Amino acid sequence: MAEIRIRNTNERITGEENVRSFLESQEVLYEHWNAGKMPASLQEKFVLSDEEKQEILSVYQPEITDLAERRGYKTWDIVALSDATPNLDELLKKFEDVHTHTEDEVRAIVAGKGIFIIKGTPEVGYFDVELTAGDVISVPEHKPHFFTLMENRQIVAVRLFIETEGWIAHSFADPEFTKA
Ligand SMILES: [Fe+2]
Repeated sequence: MAEIRIRNTNERITGEENVRSFLESQEVLYEHWNAGKMPASLQEKFVLSDEEKQEILSVYQPEITDLAERRGYKTWDIVALSDATPNLDELLKKFEDVHTHTEDEVRAIVAGKGIFIIKGTPEVGYFDVELTAGDVISVPEHKPHFFTLMENRQIVAVRLFIETEGWIAHSFADPEFTKA
């Protein structure tokens, strides 16, 4: 279940309803899929063959179709990151720059954990959304954010796109952002 940390105050927001209403106030979509649908053999597996990725997409096909029909996504795939990923540190360094996209960034976490750091409304500032298996998030287009892994450095997520070109990162230099 997702948890929020507001960077300026270190305040944490927990519990599904609180998290959902906070994210709603920040225009961030938050939904939940049944993480128990993941085949047991894949729940702790972070290096995946093409067949295994396909298996995950098949398991979650109803959820993917529902989300795609409601929100206009046309393509989807699976991303898996772990210490076995070549150049993981370099990749994370590249991820950890505040940026925006011209389409929303939607991720459904199906195994492991990850964090989105998002620029909220002026009174909130930057906040972290810590995500675990079953959490589905969409960061709206043009909203400054970045993604990183948590201490276990392992994640598998479904990514959905409207146009794959829409997902190019545009760097967002922000004097208000301080890494903490
Ligand atoms: Fe992004």
